[in-house]
Amino acid sequence: MSKLLLKGGRVIDPSQAMDLVADVLIEDGKIAAVEKDIAAADAECRDVTGKIVCPGLVDIHCHLREPGLERKETIATGSRAAAAGGFTTVMPMPNTSPVADSPASIRYVRDRAEEAGVVRVYPIGAITKGSEGKELSEMSAMADAGAVAFSDDGRPVLSSRIMRLAMEYSHITGLPLIAHEEDLALVDDGDMNEGYVSTVLGLRGNPAAAEETMIARDIILVRLTGARLHIAHVSTAHGVEMIRGAKAEGLPVTAEVTPHHLTMTEEAVRGYDTNTKVNPPLRTAADVEALIEGLKEGVIDCVATDHAPHTVEDKVVEYHFAANGISGFETALPVLWTELVKEGRLSESELIDRMSCQPARIMGLPAGSLAVGHDADVTVIDPDTILAVDKNSFYSKGKNTPYHGRLLSGWPVMTIVGGRAVMENRVVKES
Ligand code: DOR
Repeated sequence: MSKLLLKGGRVIDPSQAMDLVADVLIEDGKIAAVEKDIAAADAECRDVTGKIVCPGLVDIHCHLREPGLERKETIATGSRAAAAGGFTTVMPMPNTSPVADSPASIRYVRDRAEEAGVVRVYPIGAITKGSEGKELSEMSAMADAGAVAFSDDGRPVLSSRIMRLAMEYSHITGLPLIAHEEDLALVDDGDMNEGYVSTVLGLRGNPAAAEETMIARDIILVRLTGARLHIAHVSTAHGVEMIRGAKAEGLPVTAEVTPHHLTMTEEAVRGYDTNTKVNPPLRTAADVEALIEGLKEGVIDCVATDHAPHTVEDKVVEYHFAANGISGFETALPVLWTELVKEGRLSESELIDRMSCQPARIMGLPAGSLAVGHDADVTVIDPDTILAVDKNSFYSKGKNTPYHGRLLSGWPVMTIVGGRAVMENRVVKES
């Protein structure tokens, strides 16, 4: 019987409204007890005094790039990067090559993740074949193969008719659709948020309206179909407003926001650093304010990284030609700890809730709790030590981060999956 005892940490578990200094005993991969002064002489012991012990972080939106794009990331490297970032459960998007639009491709991702043996990986299947927006994919068969949601992320489902059919069909699987909201006609090949800054920089603008019109459409389609819709990477204040309205109406709509949309504005693009190129683009200070408010209020349910690793070749080009995305697993927690918790915008418990309990709840995943009997997926956070982000020490193949060199606190120091410490002191263990 394997036993691990985490001694003397501050245990924060929003799923049980718990915040107390206690020991956590893990036995055979499950949470066995959370109490003061547990004596377990036969357990492996870690002193976590001064650290925060919380349910393992859950990321419902990331890109692991396999199959087909292994030059950017593999399921093995992405899993290690997730563990390094404090994540115990991740949901990869299907915009691989080929697109994950069949039961075989869902099984492939699960098998590779099992081989990697680091974090729990629950694949997302494509809504349409090849994510081309023309024909529905084999959603039911993918659900049977283990898909936990459907999305054409990276691309919108432009046809309202196809989106309506996908929503109606999703009732059969009972799984949510995750919508990447942008009207490509309005995006018009835009490189950054449309406004004063894009004009000054001479870059093509992608207006907030490109996102807002699609959020509006999909809320209207949810009203028509009753489907469970999750809105990916919300970036606009009006988007938040519309989601608030949909929730007030009782519609089954949820939403996520990324760490970068919560902490950076379009001003970051001024140096033409292509690491700031992301889709949707970084918006205005007023948008960031609305996103933080929305997350605090619960209108935006959770944080998702949109971890999007790219190669140097994908990024070291003119801004217009650079790939969209930020390698986000390994900075998400400290970026938000430093910018939101330390700045007093969110409490420790609120951030942990939005990065663990809420994402698990809205995707129906068995995670996000330290209740006795639950799988022992645990993250230990050092709230105080300040370290600089070093992209060269990333486990991810993607070194594309705008946070390189930034001094941050709130680093994960231990990641436990099913009772096994897969990361300790920033080192991911070989499985
Ligand atoms: O910035 C992004 N990168 N946004 C997306 O929607 C897709 C992602 C990617 O796959 O690189």
